[in-house]
Amino acid sequence: MSRGAFIVIEGLDRSGKTTQTAILCEQLEKAGKPVKLLKFPDRTTAIGKMIDAYLRSQSELDDRAIHLLFSANRWELASQIEKSLQEGTTIVCDRYAFSGIAFSASKGLSYEWCRAPDISLPSPDLVLFLDIPPEKAKERGGYGEERYEKEEMQKKVRQVFGRIGDEMTGAEGVKWIVVDAGRDQETVSKDIWSNVEGFLGEVSRPIRRLWDSSDVIKLQRVNNAAQHAQTATPPHAQPVPHTP
Ligand SMILES: Nc1ncnc2c1ncn2[C@@H]1O[C@H](COP(=O)(O)OP(=O)(O)OP(=O)(O)O)[C@@H](O)[C@H]1O
Ligand SMILES: [Mg+2]
Repeated sequence: MSRGAFIVIEGLDRSGKTTQTAILCEQLEKAGKPVKLLKFPDRTTAIGKMIDAYLRSQSELDDRAIHLLFSANRWELASQIEKSLQEGTTIVCDRYAFSGIAFSASKGLSYEWCRAPDISLPSPDLVLFLDIPPEKAKERGGYGEERYEKEEMQKKVRQVFGRIGDEMTGAEGVKWIVVDAGRDQETVSKDIWSNVEGFLGEVSRPIRRLWDSSDVIKLQRVNNAAQHAQTATPPHAQPVPHTP
């Protein structure tokens, strides 16, 4: 049975994500596709309100606590995403787990730790990463009003996004496309549309999960076994049992 496509638009602050997700939804509707626009963080939920206060610097939270709240905010909508996709609705999403990892890892938290809470979230079929030099993004309206909108931070975030993109490229079932977002709005939207066109037909493969947990568990078992083999005392070196 065919389902809707899950399309994520990611990128640095002020790269044009909100502008482009709106244009893309309009284009999909015109093409006759049922479509739903999601935006993370979803500031309307109880968790989203805590995130909103934090982003506007009205509250302070431990870096790990806010990271987990961002992830929980995605998990709040995970089953709704799956349901909509199964019903044949295409989902366009303004930011997703990749932003969560990029921002928290840029603050110095370990990359693996940051990724862990998002493991098994519904995986997008297509990620369009809007890339723009932070110096250029800064020139756009509104930059600097929220907590992370500082050039230095954005430079680090861009680096972590680069790592995520490298790892996602070639990941089974996910297409990660870097879009030059420094160009004018229309050129960017044309570029995005040319990448989305391939998803206008039927999407029949099952919904995958991000960094699928069964793979992670399998990998952990292999690592544990390898570690055990290295640290275990070889049989010939075992102490002679003490006989009373
Ligand atoms: N291609 C473009 N060229 C110039 N300005 C743009 C372009 N795309 C969007 N803008 C403008 O840049 C600003 C930021 O755009 P937008 O809000 O879409 O970015 P965003 O990535 O969603 O930002 P944020 O990270 O703050 O949510 C807006 O004022 C918008 O009108
Ligand atoms: Mg936005």
